Amino acid sequence: MNKVRKAVFPVAGLGTRFLPVTKASPKEMMPIVDKPLIQYAVEEAIAAGVSDMIFVTGRTKRAIEDHFDKAYELESELALRHKTETLSFVQNMLPRHINCIYIRQPEALGLGHAILCAKPVIGDEPFAVLLADDLLDGQPPVMKQMADVFDYYRCSVIGVLDVPPAETGSYGMVKSFSIAERLERIEAIVEKPKPEDAPSTLGVVGRYILTARIFHHLERVAPGSGGEIQLTDGIASLLREEQVLAHRYTGTRYDCGSKLGYLRATVELGRRHPEVGADFDRYLRHLERGPA
Ligand code: UTP
Repeated sequence: MNKVRKAVFPVAGLGTRFLPVTKASPKEMMPIVDKPLIQYAVEEAIAAGVSDMIFVTGRTKRAIEDHFDKAYELESELALRHKTETLSFVQNMLPRHINCIYIRQPEALGLGHAILCAKPVIGDEPFAVLLADDLLDGQPPVMKQMADVFDYYRCSVIGVLDVPPAETGSYGMVKSFSIAERLERIEAIVEKPKPEDAPSTLGVVGRYILTARIFHHLERVAPGSGGEIQLTDGIASLLREEQVLAHRYTGTRYDCGSKLGYLRATVELGRRHPEVGADFDRYLRHLERGPA
């Protein structure tokens, strides 16, 4: 089995929790300070050795294609104004060996369906999946941690974290047993169970490395609520024939699909920003002290 060279970024969701901002522009283009969420995810994939970035897009997602494309007008304007440093920054946003591939998901029929749309480009290789609205801040980057696990065990690996029992209804939850430090073997996985039905407190985050066999299972999964094809159901089916591991990654997760998570990421990464971090930190301390 090969190394993980390809990553899928499903970005075709409707982003209803962020309306109205997501009405005409993609959730994944929302910035944390000055960089869009999708760029954080792409950089994480590059750090894991991925070279082919496959974006599964939908309506209103053109901005993502433009973001990673050559910007002729901007570049010639910058050249005319002799802004060489900014020009070089814009031109070198991605290393030269990176390929960006765009596939359209005609209807938002679920995460599982979005991944299935990438099948013709993935072929028979293992691949990564990154949900850009889950911003993971880890060192080494979380997908790199997971690629190392994949290189050793050669099977599907899913990123997990311990979630508060009251929040199991927001996650895919796994039943598993420990096989090594930070590593579990998954026995079962269920989508968004009530706390009393959850098999554990280990919840799935938006990072996966999957073997190509997942396509076989996703093609057979029955649509669930809202006619959506759930990735969790595909993984539950894959589990019957292949080992799937859960990796308790090290790092901080910001759920940027929710307003509160997005604000947390903005504040915490803003505080560490090389250009404005120190001033912003001073400002926050000033706010904390309250009116004199
Ligand atoms: P979410 O469950 O976060 O849905 O999708 P959403 O549409 O993005 O946001 P809300 O809940 O309406 O606010 C998880 C991931 O799966 C992708 C989304 O883009 C997101 O990255 N997705 C979901 C698709 O690409 N296609 C789909 O049909 C559904």
